[in-house]
Amino acid sequence: MTAINYTDKIPNNVNLSEDKTLQRALEHWQPNYINWWKDMGPEGSNDYDVYLRTAVSVDPQGWANFGHVKMPDYRWGIFMNQREEGRTVNFGEHKGEAAWQDVPGEHRANLRRIIVTQGDTEPASVEQQRHLGLTAPSQYDLRNLFQINVEEGRHLWAMVYLLHKHFGRDGREEAEALLERRSGDEDNPRILGAFNEKTPDWLAFFMFTYFTDRDGKFQLCALAESGFDPLARTTKFMLTEEAHHMFVGESGISRVIARTCEVMNQLKTDDPAKIRAAGVVDLPTLQRYLNFHFSVTIDLFGADESSNAAIFYNSGLKGRFEETKRDDDHRLHGRSYTVLGVRDGKLIEREVPMLNALNEVLRDDYIRDSIAGVNRWNKVIEKAGIPTRLVAPHKAFNRKIGTLAGVKVSPDGRVVSEGEWAQQASQWLPSAEDRAFVSSLMGRVVEPGKFANWIAPPPIGINKQAPDFEYIRFS
Ligand SMILES: [Fe+2]
Ligand SMILES: [Fe+2]
Repeated sequence: MTAINYTDKIPNNVNLSEDKTLQRALEHWQPNYINWWKDMGPEGSNDYDVYLRTAVSVDPQGWANFGHVKMPDYRWGIFMNQREEGRTVNFGEHKGEAAWQDVPGEHRANLRRIIVTQGDTEPASVEQQRHLGLTAPSQYDLRNLFQINVEEGRHLWAMVYLLHKHFGRDGREEAEALLERRSGDEDNPRILGAFNEKTPDWLAFFMFTYFTDRDGKFQLCALAESGFDPLARTTKFMLTEEAHHMFVGESGISRVIARTCEVMNQLKTDDPAKIRAAGVVDLPTLQRYLNFHFSVTIDLFGADESSNAAIFYNSGLKGRFEETKRDDDHRLHGRSYTVLGVRDGKLIEREVPMLNALNEVLRDDYIRDSIAGVNRWNKVIEKAGIPTRLVAPHKAFNRKIGTLAGVKVSPDGRVVSEGEWAQQASQWLPSAEDRAFVSSLMGRVVEPGKFANWIAPPPIGINKQAPDFEYIRFS
């Protein structure tokens, strides 16, 4: 069951050939997917041979398969973790019942909405990143970008399989619509705000894969607890792919910091103008990018008080992060949680029923995990003997969703006037000038083993390849 069948047209470990109707429906969707990839996938890359990993099984060792492939020929398929015998619904009002193998009728609309919303983010990020290949700082980085892109495509497959298998005709319609929406499109945008933002440069890409793919991790972890067993098994396998995306972001930013610090020490300066003149990203600009990506990403968790979040939890559809490791009744009635509000121009703490605050619970878990990585970046700065430290902004900063939307809060958590915001915004968020500067650094470096000036080489190659390994064969 864990081995993946690669002889079918659609690789899978779900015995797809035993369900001819489903197989035909997915084989009908497949060419539409490939057309989408060719239109909206990485620009100009269709003929490159790219050193990619493909899953050969869903075991931990199943990722060991690396080889050069042209991306449109990548074997996208349907992979699920093995079924756990005797698994139960672990939270909400159905707690203790056997986990569902089919969609319970009463939860059908909510489940479909959860799956479509998750599915929509996958092609969205490929679209957001499609121009980045033109300015890659090295072959190594270009390969990592492409690996992420094919895996986000694979995640779309994962959600489309669930829609086709469990939601009949409206599932098939939703699967088509996933190929029709476009990131940033005025008439037919992607569902969630952050997935309609541009990812214009590689600094934004690394921040996105650090912060926004980590949102992916937390959403997938919450869905991996689902009482709907096929969703739990699917998202568990997706998490193994997500880990690589976050690695690309975290190590990417580490390498940018390492290079910047090296130049700061060579020039013995912390003057951003001099650091920029040397062709690297100054730390204040990095901090502003961090502020932007952090704040935009925490909005993805939704409103701080949400009756939908309560319904999803009560119904056993979406759990908390590490639900089964928590030591409570997993029903949460009568429990409360602290969320932020504003009173008389000041941030205040409010107690609300925990069931309604589950978006906030997940957001806070996410924030803890994010800050741990920011501290690892600070170690790189510390090691270089530089006193500056990066900080995650206050969770009320620059929010567009929930109670905090519309209040102006500084990165250190002070409610500020419209006037102060207008005056300071360019110190807190990337300005047009910052973005123009970062974009001026982005030149394409494609010679094996060479790296753009603004980023340090990685300590080790992908799959332990030598520094000058040819990750991409251009043609
Ligand atoms: Fe994904
Ligand atoms: Fe991802």
